[in-house]
Amino acid sequence: MPYSKIAALGHYVPEQVVTNAYLSTLMDTSDEWITERTGIKERRWIDPAKDTVANMSAKATRMALERAGLKEKDIEFIVFATITPDYFFPGSGVLLQRELGLEGIGALDIRNACSGFIYALSVADQYIKTGMYKTILVVGAEIQSTALDVTTRGRNTAVIFGDGAGVAILQAADKPGILSTHLHADGRFAEELYVRDPGSSRPREERQPEQILDTTHYKVVMNGNQVFKHAVTRFTEAIEEALQANNLRKDDISLLIPHQANLRISQFIQQKMELSDSQVYNNIMRYGNTTAASIPIAMSEAWAEGKIKENDLICLAAFGSGFTWASALLRW
Ligand code: ACO
Repeated sequence: MPYSKIAALGHYVPEQVVTNAYLSTLMDTSDEWITERTGIKERRWIDPAKDTVANMSAKATRMALERAGLKEKDIEFIVFATITPDYFFPGSGVLLQRELGLEGIGALDIRNACSGFIYALSVADQYIKTGMYKTILVVGAEIQSTALDVTTRGRNTAVIFGDGAGVAILQAADKPGILSTHLHADGRFAEELYVRDPGSSRPREERQPEQILDTTHYKVVMNGNQVFKHAVTRFTEAIEEALQANNLRKDDISLLIPHQANLRISQFIQQKMELSDSQVYNNIMRYGNTTAASIPIAMSEAWAEGKIKENDLICLAAFGSGFTWASALLRW
């Protein structure tokens, strides 16, 4: 049975830098509040005339293909994680496939929010291990800025989220690569962090055009305290589960790349697990929380900065809406 390994990473973030100071001109907030609670200093927002979820992903893919010395036609399958697809349907996987000129290959969309990239990586890993495919494009990409309520009413979430795309090209290998992936969910907490509309649970009489502007449309509902409490527990559990499954210890981790939810959450996990600064990668300060895109963007940047080297043990971990949480251990 073949193993899988990440052959290359790529990412793309929109050009428009949105600082905390700029947000303060749109809503009642401050750089001090945002920095203290989230660690975020700036994030990227798309220019709707230039960027879509699919074309940002195509740019990230081209970076990865170039780094790997591969061509578009080498990709046999796409697994695409996003909760902000360009259309309500179809998913963005087919749109990326079209952008890359890969008509005919399969494209699967995954909607597991912040855990989406690790779920996608896990699915791709299984396809490679069974021999079904040899080269799979795994994507995490989001455009969240277009749905944010940037008035004071939406300030508790509008300051957190940003746009961007990251990809990993997964290939068959003689030795692992991906050592293991661990996926979890607890739907009892679905409404602690969710967007209700445009969901099909809304009755027809409440779904008429004039109600499209209803404040629940695209509104992120988040119970921040509950999310924080569950996140710090589940992140740690998922990392420990991955280490145990491979008979490894936390000291063996070369680099932990957590989903960039909130710097305070990452710092809490680092402290709880007694990891050194050099063992944990954070870039939320510059990009905010990019949901499914945060891990591949961070991994791609860490690699480019020389922080991921041959034989390193890389741990990915995520927690998010659902609740869902997940981890992956990789030998580079
Ligand atoms: N600027 C200024 N004031 C604000 C802002 C803002 N952007 N947002 C909220 N406030 C105000 C609130 O209105 C409230 O005011 P009040 O006391 O007068 O009512 C006050 O600040 C405190 O609000 P809380 O929501 O209780 O703020 P809290 O201190 O809990 O911080 C936060 C909010 C940062 C989201 C926190 O709950 C947290 O860290 N939660 C973890 C969840 C998280 O990080 N989610 C990220 C995305 S989910 C994911 O990726 C898993």
